[in-house]
Amino acid sequence: MAKAVYPGSFDPVTNGHLDVIERAAELFEEVIVAVAVNSAKTPLFTNEERVEMIREACRHLSNVRVTTFSGLLVEFAAQQEASVIVKGLRAVSDFEYELQQALMNRILRDGVETVFFMTTPENLFLSSSMVKEIAQLGGDVSRFVPSQVRARLERKVR
Ligand code: PNS
Repeated sequence: MAKAVYPGSFDPVTNGHLDVIERAAELFEEVIVAVAVNSAKTPLFTNEERVEMIREACRHLSNVRVTTFSGLLVEFAAQQEASVIVKGLRAVSDFEYELQQALMNRILRDGVETVFFMTTPENLFLSSSMVKEIAQLGGDVSRFVPSQVRARLERKVR
């Protein structure tokens, strides 16, 4: 069984991400959730906060490890001896960007395979940015994120 890296900003982790992590953990020997620290975006949560939130939500998954990474994803995957990159796919609008990244990553490092997990219908339009916007406007995000993430979001936007 292969090791997989699941990269992203996770600002913050949502139920959609957790669905992908749980399904990937069934298929792979180990899933390394990799929080990108050099993202062009300015995150709401610090690197440490993003890692902690995922760790708390994945306590029940013994083959999931959470860490940060910077630099090229394929180099990080190689360091971790992971041959698979896991990504989630929601609407068709995700497809072109994800295809471009998957093809580029394979050019950068031959042998790295990107495996896509299709969203479940309830997570189709769920995104970290939408969750942040709803929280910032005082809306209820309890259906979209774990309770500890909701509590942190409320503290952050207060
Ligand atoms: O959750 P996001 O913001 O969509 O995640 C994007 C991420 C972190 C997966 C992507 O930006 C990435 O892989 N960054 C690492 C830098 C890299 O390897 N770039 C070349 C990819 S084609």
